[in-house]
Amino acid sequence: MTVDTATKTASEAFTVTPLSDIMAAEVTGIDLAQPLDQATRDAIQEAFLAHQLLVFRDQKLTKDQQVAFTEQFGTLERHALTNITPGAHPLVHMVTNLGADGKPSGVVKSTRWHSDKSFREAPSMASILHAVTLPPDGGDTCFANMYRAYDALPEAERTELDTIKVVHSWPDSRENIGRKISQAEIDDAPPQAHPIARPHPETGRKALFLGMHAAYLDGVDRDAGLARIEQLEAHSTQDKFVYRHNWCQGDLLMWDNRCLLHRADPNFDAAAHPRVMHRTCLRGTPT
Ligand SMILES: [Fe+2]
Repeated sequence: MTVDTATKTASEAFTVTPLSDIMAAEVTGIDLAQPLDQATRDAIQEAFLAHQLLVFRDQKLTKDQQVAFTEQFGTLERHALTNITPGAHPLVHMVTNLGADGKPSGVVKSTRWHSDKSFREAPSMASILHAVTLPPDGGDTCFANMYRAYDALPEAERTELDTIKVVHSWPDSRENIGRKISQAEIDDAPPQAHPIARPHPETGRKALFLGMHAAYLDGVDRDAGLARIEQLEAHSTQDKFVYRHNWCQGDLLMWDNRCLLHRADPNFDAAAHPRVMHRTCLRGTPT
């Protein structure tokens, strides 16, 4: 019997198993390279909102297949200007420690806590990251549950934060890592104010909206605002709110940027071993 793979849909009989009581669930028994039927998409969406981070096991998607998978859940996000390199796939960002010579550079990017595209007027809804080449061990990605971080604050502080806006700024965050950016980049990504206790548009729950692009608090002295941001980030990234993902070959992660922060842990020899992943992002909504 021959199977027409172009029309075959993914099985609905996949399994969702929680990986920790902080967040994250493992999804097995589904092939994301195939088109998903509506019932399967709905079940994935439900699991995504319930667990914030889905870990799909045993996947092998080309860049085009990853784009096709991503587009079934919303609108693909474009890259920041600096991430566009000649010859690269326009919608798939390479997360890599390889240098221009194709060899491990020793540099791991995105090691500070952040939410992807938080400096946009409509920050990212979700990111999808697919392992292509993994180091023999380490190279983890860590995630902080910002719902839990908000909920754990005293009621008086939550009430206060509900009135405060935080400005996320691509120019400031580039400056903080020692890189001067062009006027074109500033024009492309001007600073954006968001509620620091940002309501999730689908669950209605509030989550602290912080990370490395959070530069200052609207209407607050700049240094005092930054100190408060740093204090809240330290609170939010305590072990009790953090899930650490140790990657397996074939993993494809999909996480909710509206209620999680994430960072790459450079806990591997980045000068000796390649770590390459493909990332796509889904656009979220303004706040
Ligand atoms: Fe990221």
